[in-house]
Amino acid sequence: MSSCDGRAAVILDGLDAAVRAELRLEIAAEVDSTNEVVKRRCTSGADIHGLALLADRQSAGRGRLGKPWFSPPDSNLYLSLGWRFDSDNCDLAGLSLAVGCAIAEQLQDSMGVDIRLKWPNDLYIAGMKVGGILIDIVPASGEGWQLVVGVGLNVAMPRTDAIDQPWTDLAAHLKVPPSRDDVAGDVLLALTSMLSDWPAAGFLSWREVWQRRDFLVGNEVAVQHNGAALVGVAMGVDSTGALTVDTDSGVVSVHAGEASMLRLASS
Ligand code: BTN
Repeated sequence: MSSCDGRAAVILDGLDAAVRAELRLEIAAEVDSTNEVVKRRCTSGADIHGLALLADRQSAGRGRLGKPWFSPPDSNLYLSLGWRFDSDNCDLAGLSLAVGCAIAEQLQDSMGVDIRLKWPNDLYIAGMKVGGILIDIVPASGEGWQLVVGVGLNVAMPRTDAIDQPWTDLAAHLKVPPSRDDVAGDVLLALTSMLSDWPAAGFLSWREVWQRRDFLVGNEVAVQHNGAALVGVAMGVDSTGALTVDTDSGVVSVHAGEASMLRLASS
């Protein structure tokens, strides 16, 4: 057994039996991107349902909208989980928001950190980005959906000027820096429970969590919408996870895109 197999066994042993039964966990010292590795496995015919890949380093980590994801060695969490929903009728609207909700709730429970969620896929602490979520949909043969859910979380980031926005890590908000493997266990627990319940529960069961943790609500935002920048006040998300923005020309629902905060409501 390699040391990675030993680490994987320890992480899985910390999870309850029902969650453990859903997962196969692999740990790699270095990959290009954990999402890409799981996608390639899928393309070459492997069953990726429940396949989790944790890497100590990514040489070509991917963020949303084609951006790179800075992935220094042995410091942060780089994790992807493959999942399959067997029915075409499974509604994926709001799924990526629910991933953020589930992770935030779990990390609050286990380590007491207060994570806010910035639409659609960013995790924030104290106004700074601490993590992000990247979901790839992989074509499924037959009915249903196959997904790769990628999570990047800054655990103890070395000093860097490689990131072009305010950022933080979990260690900065805790008395004792968490171990990456403990964080991995928490994230796997959150994802597996959420994804298992998703076909029956959908986004409606997470909307209250989103509202409680919404980073943008009430503030002036700019959102890319139909190729143009839309400015208005964020009013929260609707039952499908779309961002609702109150603009000069009326209330607009934005289903996909990127939002940035222009001004805090109080300033
Ligand atoms: C974002 O905020 O832009 C999303 C970042 C997602 C990064 C994670 S790290 C693990 C997985 N592998 C990748 O290449 N990307 C995701």
